[in-house]
Amino acid sequence: MEVSNDLFEEIIEGSTRILVPKKSLTEKAPPIKPAFFNPKARTNRDFSIIAYAAFLKKFEGPKIFLEGLTGVGARGLRVANELKIESVIINDLNPTALEMARHSANLNNLKNIEFSEKEACVFLSEHSRKGKRGTLVDIDPFGSPAEFFDCGIRATVHGGMLSTAATDLQVLNGLFQGACKRKYGGIPVRVEYRNEMAIRLILGSLRTVAARLGVKIIPMFVESEMHYYRTYVKIINHVDQEENLGYIIHCKNCGHRKTSLEQKHECDLCKLKTSIAGPLWIGKIFDKEYVKNMIEELPNLKIKKSCEKTLYKCLEESEMPEMFFTLDEIAKKMKSSPPKLEKIISKLKENGFVSSVTSFNPTGFRTNANIDEIMKIF
Ligand SMILES: C[S@@+](CC[C@H](N)C(=O)[O-])C[C@H]1O[C@@H](n2cnc3c(N)ncnc32)[C@H](O)[C@@H]1O
Ligand SMILES: [Zn+2]
Repeated sequence: MEVSNDLFEEIIEGSTRILVPKKSLTEKAPPIKPAFFNPKARTNRDFSIIAYAAFLKKFEGPKIFLEGLTGVGARGLRVANELKIESVIINDLNPTALEMARHSANLNNLKNIEFSEKEACVFLSEHSRKGKRGTLVDIDPFGSPAEFFDCGIRATVHGGMLSTAATDLQVLNGLFQGACKRKYGGIPVRVEYRNEMAIRLILGSLRTVAARLGVKIIPMFVESEMHYYRTYVKIINHVDQEENLGYIIHCKNCGHRKTSLEQKHECDLCKLKTSIAGPLWIGKIFDKEYVKNMIEELPNLKIKKSCEKTLYKCLEESEMPEMFFTLDEIAKKMKSSPPKLEKIISKLKENGFVSSVTSFNPTGFRTNANIDEIMKIF
């Protein structure tokens, strides 16, 4: 490939050299042409590197990474270069993006990477046979990943991990309820903890598709930022017999919230009409041991310092109750300025409740106290 210095630039992310379109570094929204690269997604690629490193460490069997929608190859190149992995196959529909990825592979002297120029589902379906499946499979499209859930799950080996990203935030956050129902099979409600609800809608949809295929998902790690929601689930070839699909029952009047296997139309606390989100995933969203393993990998990896702080929060919240509260929410109800986060957490603990910070929101906290009990304490 002819690399023109006017159009392309070489950057280093992690410890990997990556050729990217110059414009993607200067324009507010990275252009799709000649190929897509989002420098702001560095943090989420860092988290992938940590998540995959922890996973590969414990995985026994062939170690293969399949990336359905690779763009200029940033994630796949980093996996091939920074992790101990036998084979990486990266795929994209855009031939220019793949040419750039090939160029970057040479820059890093990579011998463990292959390239594929196919529609993502065709690519993943070709890897759905036994012996061809990926240990790690990633789906990172523009917008919703839902159309790739089926082929993504089929392409993941028993005991392997499927990671997905969603950027259709408005749909998942409740602005277009009909679109969310169509894409993910569940309805969102507009709430303060909308990012957790969105992740639960994605996991619920994944769970439904997995169940249809006779396999189950185990959420290991989830991550959200302003522009995306990411989920990392283990795929197990057994029928899921646990009741982990249900609803979030949220009362917009008093702020009470809970998960339930059934729809409940009356608030337990104030008896007014509730809003109901779902069906969605109501089980655990973090695997504590796995998050610990991710933290243990940090010293071995070249990633942003901020990831560590987030991971410690994930560890703290990994076994805490669902649906966090925010300080603003409490302050609004109390018609006062927000209390300090550490103070509210320690007060809740003093009063016999469990409580922790959350990685989902810098002013969020988890607790098993209900809204009335939280207010009483303050
Ligand atoms: C969000 S970008 C991927 C970014 C990349 N994973 C990263 O971490 O930098 C989405 C990519 O999907 C490609 N694409 C879109 N639809 C596709 C499809 N149906 N099959 C394969 N690739 C597709 C686009 O060309 C684009 O490069
Ligand atoms: Zn209520």
